[in-house]
Amino acid sequence: MPRKILVTAALPYANGKTHIGHLVEYIQTDIWVRYQRLRGNECLFFCGDDTHGTAVMISANKQGISPEEFIKKIHADRIKDFADFEIEFTHYSSTHSEENRRQCENIFLKMQEKGHIKTKIIEQSYCEHDKMFLPDRYVKGTCPICGAEDQYGDSCDVCGATYAPTELKNPACNICGNPPVKKKSEHLLFELNDFKDFLHEWVPQHTDRETGKKLLEWFDEDLRDWDISRDAPYFGFQIPGHKDKFFYVWVDAPVGYIAASQEWLQKQGRSMEEFWANEDAEIYHFIGKDIVYFHCLFWPAMLKAADLRGPNQVFVHGMLTVNGAKMSKSKGTFINARTYLNHLDPMYLRYYYACKLSSTAEDLDLNTEDIISRVNSDLIGKITNLASRGATMLQGKLNADLVSLDEEGQALLAKSQNVKELIEGLYEARDYSKVITEIRKLAEEGNRYFDVKQPWKSIKEKPEEAQQVLSNVLNLYKNIAIYLKPILPSYVEKVEKLFDQGAFTWADLDTELKAKAIQPYEHLAGRIDKAKVEKMIEESKENKEAKVQETEGLISIEDFQKVDLKIAQVVEASDVPEADKLLKIIVQVGDSKKQVFAGIKSQYKAEDLLGKHVVLVNNLKPRKMRFGMSEGMLLAASGKSGGPFLVTVDAGAKSGFQVK
Ligand code: 2FM
Ligand code: ZN
Repeated sequence: MPRKILVTAALPYANGKTHIGHLVEYIQTDIWVRYQRLRGNECLFFCGDDTHGTAVMISANKQGISPEEFIKKIHADRIKDFADFEIEFTHYSSTHSEENRRQCENIFLKMQEKGHIKTKIIEQSYCEHDKMFLPDRYVKGTCPICGAEDQYGDSCDVCGATYAPTELKNPACNICGNPPVKKKSEHLLFELNDFKDFLHEWVPQHTDRETGKKLLEWFDEDLRDWDISRDAPYFGFQIPGHKDKFFYVWVDAPVGYIAASQEWLQKQGRSMEEFWANEDAEIYHFIGKDIVYFHCLFWPAMLKAADLRGPNQVFVHGMLTVNGAKMSKSKGTFINARTYLNHLDPMYLRYYYACKLSSTAEDLDLNTEDIISRVNSDLIGKITNLASRGATMLQGKLNADLVSLDEEGQALLAKSQNVKELIEGLYEARDYSKVITEIRKLAEEGNRYFDVKQPWKSIKEKPEEAQQVLSNVLNLYKNIAIYLKPILPSYVEKVEKLFDQGAFTWADLDTELKAKAIQPYEHLAGRIDKAKVEKMIEESKENKEAKVQETEGLISIEDFQKVDLKIAQVVEASDVPEADKLLKIIVQVGDSKKQVFAGIKSQYKAEDLLGKHVVLVNNLKPRKMRFGMSEGMLLAASGKSGGPFLVTVDAGAKSGFQVK
């Protein structure tokens, strides 16, 4: 019986670009899903953008667009990034959907109905200028413990202390720089401790040993209430029955898993209960170790309260380092998905991550020398070499015809079949690095056989012998390709074409290739060029791409300071008869006078200007005009009904004073 499996990967936060750190999880999950499908199971893969919260709201604000517009742009980029890395979702949704709102409300109402929600007045930092409560990371100030300056509101980078933002000394709003005030408001709390016994049993059954052990440390004391509401303004869903209160982003994010399932299943005439209320189905969440608390405590408790089932397992992976250190913008190792794609084939990263991934939550390192060596010497030099040498030789002089295996060929094929169960177990356990080891061993076996038999020699005098050797090798290669299929889907698609057999299934491992002609050999994969890796790193330095975008059209404070703006008083003004738009104006700037030609005749009569205080660009290079020298410029603005209108100055400002 095929299994019914629902898989999710963590919903990426819709505030920034996809980078190679994100891709660890999506590639890991995609490989697992493809493996399950290859085994004939129904395996649905749901994901989507995690769109709500303060960070998105502020980023949108900065760009002068609505959060809805902001997340739309991110969504389009994400879909393209994932598709280009061959990450294939059943449905990629967004938490900002009507279905998610409905699911959140239902779950919340159940939690409330069963008495797990209470209210509490909480005092928080509030910015009077931005008119909003500030999340911990939006307050900066001096650490109350060690006195280090410029620390975030939740913890100190210098001494490691954790505290509430209200405890910071000299706090400042991270958006506008003003000191926040303390303000009280009512919050809704989810009483997690009601689920303590349930979770105590649940955690070890549904997480790996390490993760479970760490989580259980929290159980020595009561589990703390979870604050699930945020005050307006907040980009999110309004909590039913609570005006101006919104669900905290971490409430509606995991509910997004259910909403995405429902959106897709409903279109098929099915419904999410087929999985989320059915113990015969299987559910797996793939996540990074940084978000375990949400997925293994809050989430199962929410589901329990809503009478829905939880995941069979939460699969936790470690974090990515590059060349042994955290990804760094200055070292150029903070590599965006798009930057990678501009230089390298996505297949390399899929292969390399597979080489590094195991079933544990250990961190994994992308070493730039190592990726080059593993791809070039193993994927190309050992694995692909079997196909390229074998197939081209067969096509060259032997009519491309495969013949039935002889004893040696049978033995080689059997070697690949003998590791089938082992590889099945390794895929199931997400131990892809060991899958790659097995595949590599088979490829080495094939190369050894090839080299001993030297078909490039026999092809001249004994073509039949060569044909036998090549057929034996290509049959082994066929099984290697099947084992590789979840990792390198489009690569293996080309292999399928080569053998003209249709899409490989797992059952094809047991059979010999038909004795028939193979198709023309299509280039499968090339070596990684070190220069391209270097270029990619160079392009990622300080995130050049982002910097250019952020600063395009902007000037620095130094640029601005070069402009000498002075208050000036109009002392003479007259028409320039030869010019329709110009007035000739003499202004007094401190002790000196300057002549300016200003295109403001449509709005002002010369005599009305006398005595007005205006703003003069005092250090503009003089320009010779037809009617005389223009020695500066007056600031003016266009308005709805024409213009330009002069920028005038309040009484008190005096001619010659600097404008700052
Ligand atoms: O850590 C993150 O980036 C979150 N956006 C993950 C959310 S996963 C799920 F809960 F939606
Ligand atoms: Zn502020």
